[in-house]
Amino acid sequence: MKALILSGGKGTRLRPITHTSAKQLLPVANKPILFYAIEAIRDSGIRDIGIIVGDTAEEVRNAVSDGRRFGVEVTYIQQDEPLGLAHAVLIARDFLKDEPFVMYLGDNLIKGGITGLVEQFKQQSPNSQILLAHVRNPSQFGVAELRDSQVVRLEEKPASPKSDLALVGVYMFDKNIHAAVRAIRPSKRGELEITDAIQWLIDNDLRVLPHIVTGWWKDTGRLEDMLEANRMMLDTYETDVRGDVDEHSRVEFKVVVEKGAVVRHSTIRGPAAIGSGAKIINSYIGPFTSISSDTQIINSEIEHSIILENCLIEDVGIKIEDSLVGRNAEVKRLNEKPRVYRLLLGDNSKVGLP
Ligand code: DAU
Repeated sequence: MKALILSGGKGTRLRPITHTSAKQLLPVANKPILFYAIEAIRDSGIRDIGIIVGDTAEEVRNAVSDGRRFGVEVTYIQQDEPLGLAHAVLIARDFLKDEPFVMYLGDNLIKGGITGLVEQFKQQSPNSQILLAHVRNPSQFGVAELRDSQVVRLEEKPASPKSDLALVGVYMFDKNIHAAVRAIRPSKRGELEITDAIQWLIDNDLRVLPHIVTGWWKDTGRLEDMLEANRMMLDTYETDVRGDVDEHSRVEFKVVVEKGAVVRHSTIRGPAAIGSGAKIINSYIGPFTSISSDTQIINSEIEHSIILENCLIEDVGIKIEDSLVGRNAEVKRLNEKPRVYRLLLGDNSKVGLP
C-alpha cells in the first residue's frame, strides 16, 4: 500500500502568512502540520509516500527531504497548477501504479492516527473508504448523504447540505479511482473534485465504505482552526524542560522548553511550547501558546497564540491574544513622541487594536 499527501494548492485563507510559505508547513505545537500526516502514515505501516507539491515545492522539499528521518521514502510529484484533488490523483498515476493507497490532505490533522482506518480497509477490501465527521458548518466541506449506513450521494461545498457529515481529508482507494478521475469533468470552481470521483465510483456500483470519525479532526485552513489545533496538540504534551530557565522564572503545567531556549524573569503557564534558541525575558507566556525557535519575547504577555520563527515582540504593554504571527515579524513599542502606530504589513494582514 502507498500514500499520497497533497501539499500543493494555495492557502488563500491564511494570507498573508501563506503568501510566502506553504500552509502545510505552518507549525502546530511547534511542528509543521505536514509532519503529523507523514508520521500518521508511517505509523500505519506505509513507507512509500508521494507528495504533491505546487508553488511552494522548494520549501516542502527542504523541510521533508527524502523522508529518511521519518523512516519513509518520499517521491515528489509536481502539480503545476492546483486543478483539484482528483487532478492530483491523475498526475500521480505513475507513482501509484495499481496499488491501493491512502490519500491524505496535507493541511488536515487527525488525532489518533489512521492505523485503524488502514487496517479496516485491508480487512474489508472495499473499492474506497471515506472518513466522515459531524460538523456545524457542512457547507464549507464535501458533504455525504447516507442511507442505511451506505453512502448514496456526495456533494462538494453544497449551499443546502443534505446532512452534517463532512468529508474528512483522508481517503482510501483501490485502482478503480484512476478510471474515476479520468471520467469526471471540472466543477463550477474549475477543479477536478475528488468528491465527484467518489460519486462516480458509487454510480458505477463500486463499494464505498463510510467510516465516521468520532475523535478530534481539523482542516487547518483558517486562523481559528490553527489556534484550535495548536490548543489540542499542546494539551497532549507532558512537561519537558531542557532549556535554560532561571530561578526567577516559573514554569507551570505541561510546558515544553526546548534545548537552547532561554527563560529569564518570566512565567510560562502551559500548555505551551518554547522552541530552541527562543528567548523569553521578563514576560508572561499563557496557556495554549507556541513560540517557535529563535523568537524573542521581551517585556510582553502572550496567550492562546502561535508565534513563528525569529520574531521580536518587545514592550507591547497589552496582552497579545488569539494571534498568529509570521516569521521574522517585529512588534515593538516605540518610546517616541508623537505616539503613533508605525506599520509595515503584508497584503491581507489583520491588526486588532484595543
Ligand atoms: O478538509 C476537508 C475538505 O478538503 C473536504 O471536506 C472537501 O471535500 C475537499 O474538497 C477539501 O476541501 P478544501 O477546499 O479544504 O481543499 P483545499 O483546496 O484546501 O485543498 C486541500 C489540500 O490539498 C491542501 O493541503 C492543498 C492541497 N491541494 C489542493 C488542490 C485544490 C493540492 O495539493 N492540489 C490541488 O489542486
